[in-house]
Amino acid sequence: MRVLLPTFLGALAYRTLSVCAKSYDYIIVGGGTAGLTVASRLTEERSIQVLVIEAGINAENIQEVYIPGLVGQAPAGLNWAYPTVPQKNLNNRTLTVNGGKALGGSTVINGMIFPRAGKQQYDVWGALNNDSDWTWNSLLPYFKSYEKFTPPNAFQISNGAKFEADVHGFQGRVKVGFPNSFLEQFRLWREISVKLGLKEKADLDDGNIAPNSVGVTPVSIDPQNNTRCSAACAFYTPFTDRPNLDVLTNATVTRLLWNTSSNSDSELVASGVEYTLEKKTFIMNVTGEVVMSAGTIGTPKVMELSGVGNTTILENVGIRAVLDLPTVGENLADHAHSWVNAFAQNILTKDQGLFDSAFMEEQLALWHENRTGLYSGIVGPSSLGLAAPSDILNSSRLEDLLSQAEANIEHYATAFSNGNPGLAKAIKSQHQFLIELYRNDEALPLEMCIVPGYQGPLGVADRPMRNFTTISSVLYAPFSRGRTHIASSDPETFPLVDPAYWSHPIDVAAMVGGINLARKMSTGDQLRPFYTGEFAPGDDVLGEEAIEQWLRGIVASDNHEVGTMAMLPKELGGVVSTDLRVYGIANVRVVDASIIPFPVSAHMVTVFQSIDYI
Ligand SMILES: Cc1cc2nc3c(=O)[nH]c(=O)nc-3n(C[C@H](O)[C@H](O)[C@H](O)COP(=O)(O)OP(=O)(O)OC[C@H]3O[C@@H](n4cnc5c(N)ncnc54)[C@H](O)[C@@H]3O)c2cc1C
Ligand SMILES: *[C@@H]1O[C@H](CO)[C@@H](O)[C@H](O)[C@H]1NC(C)=O
Ligand SMILES: *[C@@H]1O[C@H](CO)[C@@H](O)[C@H](O)[C@H]1NC(C)=O
Ligand SMILES: *[C@@H]1O[C@H](CO)[C@@H](O)[C@H](O)[C@H]1NC(C)=O
Ligand SMILES: *[C@@H]1O[C@H](CO)[C@@H](O)[C@H](O)[C@H]1NC(C)=O
Ligand SMILES: *[C@@H]1O[C@H](CO)[C@@H](O)[C@H](O)[C@H]1NC(C)=O
Ligand SMILES: *[C@@H]1O[C@H](CO)[C@@H](O)[C@H](O)[C@H]1NC(C)=O
Ligand SMILES: *[C@@H]1O[C@H](CO)[C@@H](O)[C@H](O)[C@H]1NC(C)=O
Ligand SMILES: *[C@@H]1O[C@H](CO)[C@@H](O)[C@H](O)[C@H]1NC(C)=O
Ligand SMILES: *[C@@H]1O[C@H](CO)[C@@H](O)[C@H](O)[C@H]1NC(C)=O
Ligand SMILES: *[C@@H]1O[C@H](CO)[C@@H](O)[C@H](O)[C@H]1NC(C)=O
Repeated sequence: MRVLLPTFLGALAYRTLSVCAKSYDYIIVGGGTAGLTVASRLTEERSIQVLVIEAGINAENIQEVYIPGLVGQAPAGLNWAYPTVPQKNLNNRTLTVNGGKALGGSTVINGMIFPRAGKQQYDVWGALNNDSDWTWNSLLPYFKSYEKFTPPNAFQISNGAKFEADVHGFQGRVKVGFPNSFLEQFRLWREISVKLGLKEKADLDDGNIAPNSVGVTPVSIDPQNNTRCSAACAFYTPFTDRPNLDVLTNATVTRLLWNTSSNSDSELVASGVEYTLEKKTFIMNVTGEVVMSAGTIGTPKVMELSGVGNTTILENVGIRAVLDLPTVGENLADHAHSWVNAFAQNILTKDQGLFDSAFMEEQLALWHENRTGLYSGIVGPSSLGLAAPSDILNSSRLEDLLSQAEANIEHYATAFSNGNPGLAKAIKSQHQFLIELYRNDEALPLEMCIVPGYQGPLGVADRPMRNFTTISSVLYAPFSRGRTHIASSDPETFPLVDPAYWSHPIDVAAMVGGINLARKMSTGDQLRPFYTGEFAPGDDVLGEEAIEQWLRGIVASDNHEVGTMAMLPKELGGVVSTDLRVYGIANVRVVDASIIPFPVSAHMVTVFQSIDYI
């Protein structure tokens, strides 16, 4: 990273509530997945002074964080839990988009699943930007360089774990391996998936997962002691003694501060940041760059509070625009989750913990003593699959959907882009690429997996106290695009989050197809002995229309939101260039999931822990 120094003098118009003793070459806003990655890379150079400002706490010593099987039970304070605006295609429901609020960001509360997407999808990033640096071939060395992969042991291999050495790294910081417990359902489900046409893969991380695949997924767990390896574990804990790295936790950045003079290229120059800590407001000056890593919802929020965004939207909430950049907050894409739940018998499920607390205590003791047992895995998708368009839609239906998508491409590009002509071109281009991927059977539209127990929209009190098998189906290649914008100049107010799920007919058809496929899996021969009927959708929900209506009531966020500070050429409404600089600003870069211009079929973490070449 090159340090840019502001070149113009100017008086500053903000309140100075606290004058700090130190100034920094880099201030990183958000100590999450990407923010800590950047911090650790920058501070390798001992002359560079770096400050990370993180809204959450250091949560590494919280049991619900480090024990893999307690995923989902972390204290509520570690989750931003952003509410969406009522989703008009989903019965006007308000969904929750989860996001980690802690040092390590979402990797502190996420599912730790660690596969990569299909190479053709990364290549779309390069194509949209005409830049071969953002393609699978260029990214793979970075994917490898941050990874410390532990090959599966004999027990894990006997449970289906496999790997190919040439696509993994063994010297990096993010510890990746396999869990120490596997349930019988996982293997049976993989066998069913293969019977249904999914290709068994030797390694889900090799990029060649199209048209479809199934396998045992690696997870970001430290195999030495079977604990979660968050971004804090990988990029902060080992470096706490670096004198040039300062980390402020529990401190929320409210806005960037601008030097009153632009530089010689008429670019805005950030002079520092304003943040709150224990209800007091402070400022911190920066001599080099500000790196925005507050996440797909957090980063556009801070930029808009700082006067960078769509001028109309800013003025509507009383913020003076300093830079009109109307794609800030737009192009939001998320993955959407759905489930089929069957009653199960004669097979161990995680539901057992609900009826038998002594059993769960034993399992927890087993974890503490031996790092084995149910809690040593995430009790969720240890096996997963990616389905092809041809697995979920017959060829005439698929061709019909694709030709309609082509015929209506301008319509959707306009509808999704909020009167922003550059962005309309970008969305049109994204749709063209996605249609092509669909046609080539390379789109990987759904992630499928088995959960040994209930997973879905109902709480314990609202469902039968029984054992379940859940097949989950997640839309991984959405056409829909939404937005997030501030609704107030008050930094404590949540921004409006509108992923606009199901705004495109292919997204709907793919998810309906996913339920059909999940039903075939759930009733497959191998699971038959344990199957005692379907709970949800239920026997009365048959046929495409009924499934679609039912889905409108249950679809949830998969918390993989991307795209709101899109890395795209300026003509396509881009917010950042391929070196991640914000257009029109001399010294602000964005490094987090918000830059991803086009969603890919993977859990998101593998992507940015590798963004270290800015
Ligand atoms: C529940 C859940 C499950 C998931 N499961 C998986 C999975 O199994 N595998 C996978 O690969 N991906 C998964 N994901 C997605 C993945 O974790 C995220 O996409 C990724 O971690 C996002 O990285 P990021 O750097 O963009 O943001 P984050 O890691 O979320 O970091 C943003 C950071 O900025 C901080 N912040 C925000 N606003 C401010 C502010 N104003 N001032 C200071 N700090 C601020 C936040 O507190 C946070 O620490 C999951 C996500 C969630 C929420
Ligand atoms: C504003 O820019 C001028 C010129 O580069 C610089 O001297 C001054 O220190 C900057 N002010 C702040 C607050 O960064
Ligand atoms: C930070 O910038 C402000 C405004 O230019 C200045 O008054 C203050 O002295 C600076 N603080 C430090 C520590 O440099
Ligand atoms: C959702 O809300 C809109 C606006 O309030 C209304 O027109 C529409 O009928 C509602 N849809 C459903 C399914 O309730
Ligand atoms: C893409 O980049 C290449 C080389 O970097 C350049 O020659 C070409 O003109 C660019 N194409 C477009 C459409 O910008
Ligand atoms: C697991 O091991 C890591 C690295 O050796 C260590 O930092 C961490 O504290 C350990 N965690 C637990 C809970 O044992
Ligand atoms: C964080 O700040 C809040 C007040 O803003 C305080 O109540 C809480 O104790 C702090 N937490 C930590 C871990 O410092
Ligand atoms: C759940 O399954 C386990 C294992 O087969 C069994 O022991 C238990 O009785 C079942 N519980 C219920 C409520 O069916
Ligand atoms: C841990 O493993 C040892 C050796 O296999 C065994 O004796 C012990 O009972 C195990 N601990 C628990 C809690 O099961
Ligand atoms: C293809 O699927 C559609 C529904 O998705 C169905 O109506 C149609 O009959 C099917 N066509 C063939 C040839 O199977
Ligand atoms: C800015 O936002 C307003 C209000 O949402 C919208 O009407 C307008 O088209 C947007 N402008 C651009 C260039 O995106």
